[in-house]
Amino acid sequence: VSESFRRVRVALGARRGYEITVGAGALSRLGDVTRRAVGREARRVAVISNARVFALYGARAVASLRGQDFRVARWLMGDGERHKSLRTAERALAFLAESGIERGDAVVALGGGVVGDLAGFASALHLRGVAVVQVPTTLLAQVDASVGGKTAVNTAAGKNLVGVFQQPRAVVADTATLATLPARELTAGWCEAVKQGACGDRKLFERTKAFLAEGKRADADGRRLAELVAAHCEFKARVVAGDEREEVGRTDARSRRVLNFGHTVGHALESATQFRRFRHGEAVGYGMLAAAEISFRLGMLARTELESLREAVRLAGRLPPADDIDPKLVCRAARTDKKRRGGHTQWVLLERVGRARVVDGREVPASLLRASVGAALRR
Ligand code: NAD
Ligand code: GLY
Repeated sequence: VSESFRRVRVALGARRGYEITVGAGALSRLGDVTRRAVGREARRVAVISNARVFALYGARAVASLRGQDFRVARWLMGDGERHKSLRTAERALAFLAESGIERGDAVVALGGGVVGDLAGFASALHLRGVAVVQVPTTLLAQVDASVGGKTAVNTAAGKNLVGVFQQPRAVVADTATLATLPARELTAGWCEAVKQGACGDRKLFERTKAFLAEGKRADADGRRLAELVAAHCEFKARVVAGDEREEVGRTDARSRRVLNFGHTVGHALESATQFRRFRHGEAVGYGMLAAAEISFRLGMLARTELESLREAVRLAGRLPPADDIDPKLVCRAARTDKKRRGGHTQWVLLERVGRARVVDGREVPASLLRASVGAALRR
């Protein structure tokens, strides 16, 4: 296990900026990273996780925290998207109060994006906000969800509709934890990684693709995996630093909004299949194909670029079949996407791999949309 870790800075000014520590074995640094982030006065840490992740990595996380004289309490939430709810948040808040977490103390979120979003949300509400340290244990959370401070819960009205921005004080991404990740979760994570390159960084896209082409997708102890995850964190950190709150009026190629590439159809596919068939990242895999098809059919994107994206999605892993899903249903769901402006869907499309453009829904004819979605689902 490597003991030299990559450190990536999220530049949000001297007081709010924070560091991401990336590498195989980084969990052993959790105690001192947290101590540095919250200072000498902090006494208690509340670890929020789930049973599966805690059984694998809880003891190491707790030992590292105790090594820095923190008193550690823990609380395990249910596993799965349906537990990312207000009801769970209320229970988490009760736990934080019972554990005596004070303003200067910290919450540690140990798990994938579900735990990270829920724990981040609860940490922002407890006493009007206590520090949170994100410890992502899925690929998706390491390259995306743990960085940038978006937190949310799902409600009856939809996914991620209630939330706050709560930047973490630090992120510890131990890439060795990916060794126990189920294959589908890896595929979902690689799809989001492909997305990050495709929407904003061509070099990162090519590097991700080359890594996948070598069949390295699960090489959790490898230094190159850690370096690639760190490169994705750098990309995300750059976008977040440039548009921390996803300003409503911004549609430029550097706005945080471009990170939603593949998400309009991705989310529509998830909801058209009652959130049962796809992992979120898998649906984004199809969503990227659809957005690229739209871009190509609108004459924005060259065929070779479309092919290159298709190849990257293929390399990310096997996606559940989607050719039985009616494109009309998906298009209908896409029209009610939450990222609307003035009542119209905002499409994140591609001019080329590595450069996105936000396009108003009125510029995408219904027939072209249906044909593009159909082509993506049949791929
Ligand atoms: P997840 O948190 O549900 O984790 C996937 C599964 O893997 C779970 O069953 C989990 O228990 C298990 N698991 C986690 N780490 C493991 C490990 N190391 N070994 C074995 N099993 C492990 O899913 P996810 O894909 O990490 O996150 C999805 C969530 O993230 C969604 O709710 C999505 O909305 C959110 N998200 C948030 C942001 C953001 O910016 N805040 C960005 C993207 C996604
Ligand atoms: N996952 C999209 C964002 O953080 O903005």
